[in-house]
Amino acid sequence: MKPAFHEIDPAPVRVAVRFDGQELLLPEGANLAASLLAAGIVSLRDTPVSGAPRAPFCMMGTCFDCLVQIDGVTRQACMTEVAEGMEITRPTREAADD
Ligand code: FES
Repeated sequence: MKPAFHEIDPAPVRVAVRFDGQELLLPEGANLAASLLAAGIVSLRDTPVSGAPRAPFCMMGTCFDCLVQIDGVTRQACMTEVAEGMEITRPTREAADD
């Protein structure tokens, strides 16, 4: 299936990151949430109460639907730039309750 989101830069410098163990080559310095969406990863976490999948929504740091863990620290993907070697995982239930 073709991704619903597309990158603007046709030839960005790409760096390797991992998302839930999957290696991805994302544009260095780009917005992490947008880059994951463009890579076809839509759901970044599940709600702690119902387990429903959540995707980036506001893209400006207010909804917290883009929470991920980066190198073990819970952060908003929409407020983070892509950097080489990021180890990104979906937040654990314990981290989401924090
Ligand atoms: S998408 Fe809303 S806080 Fe990141």
